[in-house]
Amino acid sequence: MNKLKIGLVGCGRVSQCHFDAIKNNANEIDFVAVCDRNETNLSNATKQTGARGYLNLDEMLNNEDLDAVSICTPNGYHYENAVKILNHNVNVIIEKPLTLSYKEGKKLMKIANKKGLHIFLIHQNRFNPTIQCVKKALDEGAFGKIYMITSNIFWHRNDDYYKNPSWHGSKKIDGGAFITQGSHYTDIMNWFAGDKLKSVYAVGKTLERNIETEDCGSAIIEWKNGIIGNVNLSVLAYKENYEGSITILGEKGLVKIGGIALNKIIDWKFDNKVDHFCEVSYDVDSVYGFGHTPYYKSVVDTLINKKEFLISSEDAMQSLQLLCSIVDSIDKKKIVKF
Ligand SMILES: NC(=O)c1ccc[n+]([C@@H]2O[C@H](COP(=O)([O-])OP(=O)(O)OC[C@H]3O[C@@H](n4cnc5c(N)ncnc54)[C@H](O)[C@@H]3O)[C@@H](O)[C@H]2O)c1
Repeated sequence: MNKLKIGLVGCGRVSQCHFDAIKNNANEIDFVAVCDRNETNLSNATKQTGARGYLNLDEMLNNEDLDAVSICTPNGYHYENAVKILNHNVNVIIEKPLTLSYKEGKKLMKIANKKGLHIFLIHQNRFNPTIQCVKKALDEGAFGKIYMITSNIFWHRNDDYYKNPSWHGSKKIDGGAFITQGSHYTDIMNWFAGDKLKSVYAVGKTLERNIETEDCGSAIIEWKNGIIGNVNLSVLAYKENYEGSITILGEKGLVKIGGIALNKIIDWKFDNKVDHFCEVSYDVDSVYGFGHTPYYKSVVDTLINKKEFLISSEDAMQSLQLLCSIVDSIDKKKIVKF
């Protein structure tokens, strides 16, 4: 395989990040086909990318010879889309969240393992220079003992956001604010904590918006290595997005990462100078950040150059496990223990 032949299903808002990222990796990726059941979105996508267009995923899979297909459909369709793609012996690149149930996630991993295929879960912020820099400090032991990892996600999502598209805020297709707005943060918290989950307790309420899922909530997480985590999430921040941050409290250091896409180091304090730290903060033009380009580069490195992928299937499953436990804890009003 010299160049990756890529297809994509779901040509809505986030697909633009994929179109740009694939273009930025054009030396190594051929964008072959796109699919959307909405004719207008499909037509815009084919015009922009030059890829062949399909209104139906089965038709695309039956007619094209693809190495991987990116799933950019709404959350609740990820599982059925991924099963189809894997059953055509094609690798899957999947927007977060992996699926809306842990059981379904496990089934996908089972099919992929059996067929020797990859499932690449998209958490593009892991590739941010800010996140990479903090992970390096963690791996070098610069923080000493880690006590807590906390996250504040105070976004503003108004009534219009929940009206269009209509899947936003639905239990079955969206899954809730922790899943849709919180998943990048909880994924990175899991990655930083570096151990399996011990318990999760969450409270979620619908205080204002006319939706089936929570618009405010708080989750307390415990990892097996003793680290305590806390996520405070609201889509009701006054008038505009206010904060999206992760803070690590360690014995010998404290770091807070913020910005609208985890693109700024807000605080960086250590007992000892941490040598590799340089000015890694940068500006972004949207909450999506710039991570999709290095993400696709890394997919190429894995499929063509056989390098290990940054987000292992175990990481992807633990990321899903945390999200599903938060939802479970909210729904059943109980602590989830592992
Ligand atoms: N990584 C990120 O930062 C990020 C940001 C935003 C959204 N997302 C994720 O990306 C996914 C898509 O979000 P979006 O905001 O682009 O949604 P969207 O509603 O704007 O677009 C979804 C598209 O999928 C199409 N579609 C739906 N079902 C289909 C099917 N069965 N076959 C073909 N096409 C189908 C729709 O017509 C629409 O064009 C979601 O899972 C979301 O959580 C990730």
